[in-house]
Amino acid sequence: MNTPIPVLTIDGPSGSGKGTVSRAVAQKLGWHFLDSGAIYRSLAIAVLRAGIPVENVDEIVALAENMNLSFTTDDPPEVLLNGQDIAGEIGSETCGNAASRIAAFGPVRQALLEKQRSFRRPPGLVADGRDMGTVVFQDAGYKVFLTASAEVRALRRYKQLKDKGLDVNLINLTREIEERDRRDLERKEAPLVMAKDAVRIDSSDLDIQQVIERVFGVVASPTG
Ligand code: C5P
Repeated sequence: MNTPIPVLTIDGPSGSGKGTVSRAVAQKLGWHFLDSGAIYRSLAIAVLRAGIPVENVDEIVALAENMNLSFTTDDPPEVLLNGQDIAGEIGSETCGNAASRIAAFGPVRQALLEKQRSFRRPPGLVADGRDMGTVVFQDAGYKVFLTASAEVRALRRYKQLKDKGLDVNLINLTREIEERDRRDLERKEAPLVMAKDAVRIDSSDLDIQQVIERVFGVVASPTG
């Protein structure tokens, strides 16, 4: 029997530190990296650009099936949507909110499934998202659920956006994050839940280095 390509899934809400931690761990392990949120965000940009209403599931699915996406591993990464670099737009809250709205539709999620699974290539994959351990890579040998208090997550996101030179308001941002969390948690399709076999890490009082060490602890002792 062939040994499956190893996968480490890191799921959790926005602002939990998933992105930074997943990238760093993938780099140290020499594994590939999937930022599944960036796939939903890219589709959201395609939808907004095409002027399709965010509730028009059929047209969104058609767009998902025909979209040509590629990511570079540079830091910051380049994201090409149908040949155009969208890296500048992808991190905005407008994009994140639209992504979370279209991500609530089952057929849209289904249309993006194979694209996400195609990232599983030797020697291994670190997959960052909401449903990596529960749906997309259910058979992953290593699963982490990374979380932090809502206040800490809003503050982190605020600093991140400020550092990018964006004009943000902490109160509005907190409200938007709470709304997005609620949508991700309450949706019927692949809601944000911890996989039964995942290890929970609360990053509220930890710095990035400490979180990375804990994640390495999980890889040293598989969950599955
Ligand atoms: O992680 P990020 O903030 O980039 O994700 C944007 C949105 O995409 C999330 O709020 C969520 O609704 C959706 N998403 C998802 N499943 C994933 C990754 C992201 O539903 N695996």
